[in-house]
Amino acid sequence: RSCSILGAPIQTGASQPGCLMGPASLRTAGLGKTLADLGWSVRDLGDLSIAPQQALSHANAAIHDLAETRAWIEVLASAAFYAARDHDFPIFMGGDHSMAAGTVAGLARHAAGQGRPLFILWLDAHPDLHTLATTESGNLHGTPVAYFTGEPGFDIYPPLSHAVDPRNICMMGIRSVDPAEHELILRSGIEVHDMRAIDETGVLPPLRAFLERVRAANGMLHLSFDVDFLDPDIAPAVGTTVPGGATFREAHLIMETLCDSGLVTSLDLVELNPFLDERGRTAKLMCDLTASLFGRRVLDRMTRSY
Ligand code: ARG
Ligand code: MN
Ligand code: MN
Ligand code: MN
Repeated sequence: RSCSILGAPIQTGASQPGCLMGPASLRTAGLGKTLADLGWSVRDLGDLSIAPQQALSHANAAIHDLAETRAWIEVLASAAFYAARDHDFPIFMGGDHSMAAGTVAGLARHAAGQGRPLFILWLDAHPDLHTLATTESGNLHGTPVAYFTGEPGFDIYPPLSHAVDPRNICMMGIRSVDPAEHELILRSGIEVHDMRAIDETGVLPPLRAFLERVRAANGMLHLSFDVDFLDPDIAPAVGTTVPGGATFREAHLIMETLCDSGLVTSLDLVELNPFLDERGRTAKLMCDLTASLFGRRVLDRMTRSY
């Protein structure tokens, strides 16, 4: 089993700087060695970069750093396509969440070439469903899902070769939704489990139902993991903390269940802002959660949770 890790030090989609250091922090926390110790053959592909950009303006004057973010999306879409083609399991280390516009676009192209549908599990406090017209903050990390599902109004982003079917997306942990995003959730058919739903049922029933759908469709499954999915008490290193996030135990249970399913084929680790971390604890937690996804467990059991 082989995996590759690829850094995307992008921070232009966020409001505050720091995500640029995300890949370095995850490497420092020992991500590569952790996975190698679990028996994976790990290939570190280094960090991507973009060329200097000429500024781009947009009718929505709130948008900032459009040219740089657009360039990152283009570089990432291509890198993700080749990483998925050449490795069993690519891991994309961010970087802010605007990078998912690129990774998912490239992975959707790869999946289409395999004749398989791409499913997305989106673990996040936010649905990131703004279009360039609706974002009020102008922070482009709020836009990737609208882009890769093929919503209109992204003419200035790189052309999307294969859109993701909104019905193949499952979001969990959502607890901060802007009005325009709410409208798009209702219209698009994206499956959204907000924190209230998780409090009512726990994480397993909705997760298992989604995994059944992925399996039945012979889908590829991309996990996009935003640090702010987690409760800020356990994961302070993120610029967009929202109280009431997933607990340590819920997050590990999700990763273990995903591991048991054997269905996940790629991973984004995004929004880690090491400038806001406390002695590396958030980076270490993201590493440990990734370890659970890649097979670390307390006891081997005959009956798995999936
Ligand atoms: N909805 C808010 C906005 O558009 C927050 C987005 C946060 N996104 C993220 N990837 N952390 O500004
Ligand atoms: Mn592949
Ligand atoms: Mn996000
Ligand atoms: Mn978020």
